[in-house]
Amino acid sequence: MKILVTGGSGFIGSAVVRLAIARGHEVINLDALTYAACQENVAAVADNPRYHFVHADIRDRAKLDEVFREYAPDAVMHLAAESHVDRSIDGPSDFIETNITGTFNMLEAARGYWIDAGKPESFRFHHISTDEVYGSLGEEGLFTETTAYDPRSPYSASKASADHLVRAWHETYGLPVVITNCSNNYGPYHFPEKLVPVVIINALSGKPIPIYGKGDNVRDWLFVEDHADALLLVVQEGKIGRSYNIGGENERTNLELVRTLLTILDAVRPKSDGSYLDQIEFVADRPGHDQRYAIDPSRIRDELGWRPSVTVEEGLERTVRWYLDNEDWWQALLDRKGVGERLGTKA
Ligand SMILES: NC(=O)c1ccc[n+]([C@@H]2O[C@H](COP(=O)([O-])OP(=O)(O)OC[C@H]3O[C@@H](n4cnc5c(N)ncnc54)[C@H](O)[C@@H]3O)[C@@H](O)[C@H]2O)c1
Repeated sequence: MKILVTGGSGFIGSAVVRLAIARGHEVINLDALTYAACQENVAAVADNPRYHFVHADIRDRAKLDEVFREYAPDAVMHLAAESHVDRSIDGPSDFIETNITGTFNMLEAARGYWIDAGKPESFRFHHISTDEVYGSLGEEGLFTETTAYDPRSPYSASKASADHLVRAWHETYGLPVVITNCSNNYGPYHFPEKLVPVVIINALSGKPIPIYGKGDNVRDWLFVEDHADALLLVVQEGKIGRSYNIGGENERTNLELVRTLLTILDAVRPKSDGSYLDQIEFVADRPGHDQRYAIDPSRIRDELGWRPSVTVEEGLERTVRWYLDNEDWWQALLDRKGVGERLGTKA
């Protein structure tokens, strides 16, 4: 399959690119290389003749038309987005422009290309979204594909808007789309502003490890390589017009997750004295912090046979070891704008 991947130099996009190349697909990685991108993430495949990189912005519609004409993809996997909730609180406009207008541009460019190609049934526009579109759960219940949308942050509202556009392009124009909504990912190449890398890096640097509020917010954690595997399955076998929730059924409070990570670090890279757990520091909560997300993944499991390959403990241990072995990768990102600062307080 020839796949146009947007955002392929980011965290999840690069896992998709690496896996797609390993499975014999041809990949065109279209990325604007924002602060969140890193070309090192795709270095392992950069010389592969089935890999192509296009430096482009999804806000540039004319450029998108050119890319579709030049590469004639069989499918689009649309991951390019502004993805950090805290940054969306401080500066929502980039989120509106990239996540909503950018997705509109992608849909229109794909639709024009698809019409010119004679509307092939086999074409797919796969939109990659988040469980955050569903809002916040109480102690009980799970998000299913029919849960009403109730986004509560500028980030999740922009992703929800994009999901609605993608669905409308299917209903109105017949564009063959699939949508996936996934829970929190973690794993190698995670940009050092998100919880898991912040915990590992601050622990190793002897800095306080910040926990928002009481650390009782619950997330459903999925190893990024399992997400990439699910995405490649959906783009090939997902039913047109359908959405699929993807999750690891690994609910943890933020505090539990942080303690697990630090306990792994204590075992594999012990401090000369004391435990990394001593570095935990509780800080003011994020405004509008959703209490709980939890995914019911039964549709993708029952219809497509997908299951995660690792438990959260195995995945976290692999992640910790990866950060220990790849210090050059994360050290080089620490001076990017906003990294290491407390963001998301300007509500
Ligand atoms: N991280 C998670 O836990 C998670 C969970 C569920 C869904 N998602 C979704 O998955 C997708 C990828 O998330 P991620 O964590 O890898 O994000 P990321 O921030 O690591 O990467 C985003 C990539 O998109 C690129 N990009 C941003 N704006 C662009 C633009 N205007 N034009 C072209 N490229 C642009 C960036 O340069 C970067 O390479 C996003 O759509 C996100 O909403 C993320």
